[in-house]
Amino acid sequence: MDSAFADICALKGHIGQVARVRGWVRNSRASKTRFIELRDGTGFVQCVVTASDSDPESYELAGTLAQESAVEISGLVQAHPKTGDPEILVKSLSIIGGSADYPITPKEHGTAFLMENRHLWLRSKRQWAILRVRHAIAKAIRDFFDGDGFTLIDSPILTPSCCEGASTLFGTPYFDEGMAYLSQSGQLYLEPTLAAFGKVYCFGPTFRAEKSKTRRHLTEFWMVEPEIPFAHLEDVMVLGERMMKFILQRTLETRKEELKILERDLTPLECALNSDYIRMTYTESVERLKGLGSDIKWGEDFGNDDETILMNSLDRPCWVHRFPKEFKAFYMEPDPQDPRLALGADLLAPEGYGEVIGGGERASSLQYLLDQIAKEGLDEKDYKWYLDVRRYGSVPHAGFGLGLERAVAWICKLPHVRETGAYPRMMGTLWP
Ligand code: 4AD
Ligand code: MG
Repeated sequence: MDSAFADICALKGHIGQVARVRGWVRNSRASKTRFIELRDGTGFVQCVVTASDSDPESYELAGTLAQESAVEISGLVQAHPKTGDPEILVKSLSIIGGSADYPITPKEHGTAFLMENRHLWLRSKRQWAILRVRHAIAKAIRDFFDGDGFTLIDSPILTPSCCEGASTLFGTPYFDEGMAYLSQSGQLYLEPTLAAFGKVYCFGPTFRAEKSKTRRHLTEFWMVEPEIPFAHLEDVMVLGERMMKFILQRTLETRKEELKILERDLTPLECALNSDYIRMTYTESVERLKGLGSDIKWGEDFGNDDETILMNSLDRPCWVHRFPKEFKAFYMEPDPQDPRLALGADLLAPEGYGEVIGGGERASSLQYLLDQIAKEGLDEKDYKWYLDVRRYGSVPHAGFGLGLERAVAWICKLPHVRETGAYPRMMGTLWP
């Protein structure tokens, strides 16, 4: 960046000085005094153009500015008399790139129209705030694991077999090898790396060909997955909770302005930062759900509605653990106390958000896994490399996956995951 120009976010440090800024016109009002709301990606600033302070051509130009014109402005930075925020008393103004008939006007638009224009919608204040929160969360995740002795291992995206159920695979022809599938989870690839690196994590895009049009489902989403050797179910809940608190603390510290733009009530976030998370077994949660009016029966997976009902009744995140084996993935360790159960744990977010983390302890017995693979109708050959983890120095181990977009949706309190990424991919959405 040219140091002759100031970032809008740094203007506080220029009060009383002349500064030059560049950006896009979010809004302009042309009365006798002209007001331009300018944004440059780092922040927003009001620029005031008066006939007495501005040069005459600039004053004229300010009266004709189209929304989203790119401009360069120079002027005196002063504190707004009421708010104290920096504003610019414009001396000169010039156009870098013109704009005409910008499709997204300050009036209300429908979601379908906004999604068609996602590449432009991203310029709006709300989308700016959400994606900056997403950045802070992603960075907090990396910092948390990097600072905790984990080694980053990038799992492959193109894979020969499934991890989370064959019904949600995206396939693509792969030369002479037949079909390749877009990874549903990096977990199976992480497990073998434990024996080489100790604590490991991967953080990347994952894919699910899920035919669900819900406010929680994407076909492409980012997942962070830690995997720890010599670990059990309890360790998953302890680590997941520490990570969530680290994320919340960072976001609250570094994204105050954005959360304010989103009008986010901070109380539930502060509660999730400062309290111990609730824990209940699946069996206890089914009883609780029945009491809340759900018709769930023991042995059934939660529907989205069940998660919503449960999490509207609790004020902080809740771990649900020990699920019936039948609806959980083949690789989960069975509960030694009750072989009908798998040692899995999901973290559900409050305010009706539901599952943000899924994980648990991994089966460490070779024979048990062979039986599970057969039971699921999977081909043992495809998993030879995965089973080797159990052949050569098998140890108890555990891990989880946090869906980044689910975390962003909750932390920003969004009605739908489609706003959590720049270019969301969902059933029915592949554009732009
Ligand atoms: O519960 P899931 O399916 O677990 C796994 O994939 C494990 N292999 C993770 C592990 O133990 N390493 O997915 C984990 C998380 C969910 O809790 C949710 O946050 C997110 O990934 N997720 C989705 N997010 C958006 N859209 C979807 N379709 C999602 N499916 C899962
Ligand atoms: Mg899950």
